[in-house]
Amino acid sequence: MIVRLQASLLATLQIPEALPDVDTASLADALERTWSRVWVTLEDQAIVSALITWFVADEVHVLNISTAPSRQRRGYARALFEVLLVDAPSANARIVVLEVRKGNAPAIALYESFGFQVTGVRRSYYRDGEDALDMTCVLRPP
Ligand SMILES: CC(C)(COP(=O)(O)OP(=O)(O)OC[C@H]1O[C@@H](n2cnc3c(N)ncnc32)[C@H](O)[C@@H]1OP(=O)(O)O)[C@@H](O)C(=O)NCCC(=O)NCCS
Repeated sequence: MIVRLQASLLATLQIPEALPDVDTASLADALERTWSRVWVTLEDQAIVSALITWFVADEVHVLNISTAPSRQRRGYARALFEVLLVDAPSANARIVVLEVRKGNAPAIALYESFGFQVTGVRRSYYRDGEDALDMTCVLRPP
C-alpha cells in the first residue's frame, strides 16, 4: 500500500529493514519542509520503500528513492514514481529533475523507463569522485 507520509503517521510506523540512504530522521526532516512531498510503500506498519521530493515553483526535485534490499525488484519504486507522476501535474509541475550517480544502473534504468533524459553531467560531484548525471522528465512544455 502506498501512502503520502505525514509526520503524525511516521510516528506510528517502523523501518525494520534499513532503506539505502533513508531513515526515520531523514523522512522526518523532509516532512518539516512545507514544500516536501513524501510517499512510502507499507507492508503492514513497516516502510519498505520511500520517495522524497520537493515541489518548488513548477519543478519537482526528486531527493531520494529507496527500496529495502529484500524488497527490491518487486515494482515498489516504479509504483512510487507512478504516484508522483500522477500527482505532479495537479500541482502545476512542469518538469521532474534529479541527480543520480553515473554508475547507478538500476536507478538510471528506472528513470529512463519513465522518460527521464540526461540533461547534464556534474564532474566529481560526489565525495568519492563519482560523476552525477542530471536527469529531467518533461511533463509539459514551458
Ligand atoms: C533504484 C531502486 C530505488 C529501485 O527500487 P526497486 O523497488 O527495486 O525498483 P522496481 O522493482 O520498481 O524496478 C523498476 C525498474 O527499475 C529498474 N531496475 C531496478 N532495479 C534494477 C537492477 N538491479 N538492475 C537493472 N534495472 C533495475 C528496472 O528498469 C525496473 O523495471 P523492471 O523490473 O520492469 O525491469 C533500488 O535499487 C534502490 O533502493 N537502490 C539504492 C538507492 C538508490 O540508488 N536510489 C536512487 C538514488 S538517485
